[in-house]
Amino acid sequence: MYASQDRLIIRSRTHDIYSYPKINFPEWVISYIPWQGDERVLDIGCGAGLYFDPVRIRLDKNGYLIAADLSYGMLKDLKSSKQSNMIPLLNANATRIPFVSNSFDVVLANHMLYYVQDIRKAVRNIRRILRPRGYFIAATNSRHSMNRFQLEITESLSVLGYKNRLPTQKTQKHFTLESGADIIRPFFPNVQIKQIKNALIFPNTDPVLAYINSLQPSCEPLLPPYLSWEDLLDQIGIQISKKIQKEGKYTVPKITGVFIAENEG
Ligand SMILES: C[S@@+](CC[C@H](N)C(=O)[O-])C[C@H]1O[C@@H](n2cnc3c(N)ncnc32)[C@H](O)[C@@H]1O
Repeated sequence: MYASQDRLIIRSRTHDIYSYPKINFPEWVISYIPWQGDERVLDIGCGAGLYFDPVRIRLDKNGYLIAADLSYGMLKDLKSSKQSNMIPLLNANATRIPFVSNSFDVVLANHMLYYVQDIRKAVRNIRRILRPRGYFIAATNSRHSMNRFQLEITESLSVLGYKNRLPTQKTQKHFTLESGADIIRPFFPNVQIKQIKNALIFPNTDPVLAYINSLQPSCEPLLPPYLSWEDLLDQIGIQISKKIQKEGKYTVPKITGVFIAENEG
C-alpha cells in the first residue's frame, strides 16, 4: 500500500479538495499540544510529511523534528521532495524505535497505528522514548467513517454475482476512535479524545473512483478469482454516476479524531 507516496497523496488531496466543512486536519491535531518551541518531536509513520510544516513553524532553534517510516519507498519520495528539507528521515518500525529512553517531548503517530502488527508494543515503545509530561498524539478514524465506500463495493460485488461482503479492512477495526483508548490507557492513563464530523462531497464520479482505486492493494487480494479489480471499478463507476445524476452529488460522511495522551512518567 505504501511502497511510494502515490496512493497516500491521492487520498490526502481528495480530503483537501472535497471535505465539507473544510478543516486543516494536521493543524487541528497539533493544536492540542501546548507548544513552547523547544520540543524534540518524532513523527513516526510520517508518510508524505503532512505534519512537517505545521510542526516546523511551531519550533524555535532549540526544537527539532525527526521523521520515521517503515516504508523505504515513502522515505525516498520524501527525500526528493522539498517537504523533508533538513528533516532527518529514519527507516524504522514503530515497534522497535531506535532511540534511548526519555528522548522526545512529542511523538506523533497519526493514521498509522492500525497498520502495526503489535500495536501495544508500539505504544509501550512510544511511552519509553517520551519524557515525563511529554505528549503522544495519535490521529485515527471512527470505525463508522467513510463506510459508504465499503457499502458501494459490497453493492457492486452483488451486482457482479458475488453475494459476500469483503472482510472489514484492518484500518477500520484495529485502532479506531472507538477502540483506541482501551489500547492506549494501560500505558497513558491520561488520554483525551477529540473528534470531528464532516463529509466528502463529490460533484462527479472520477475523484470517487480515484479514491476507491487507491484502496486496490488491500481490496484486490480479497476478490473472488473470477472478478477483476477493473470490472469491479467499472461497476462502482456506473452506480456512482447514477447516484450523482439522481442526488446531484455523492456524499460520504466521515468521523476522524485524535487521542492526546500525556506521559505521567
Ligand atoms: C496512512 S499513512 C499516514 C501518514 C501520516 N502520518 C499522515 O497522517 O499523513 C501510514 C504510514 O505509516 C507507515 N507505517 C505503517 N506501518 C508502520 C510501522 N510499523 N512503523 C512505522 N511506520 C509504519 C506507512 O508506511 C505509511 O507511510
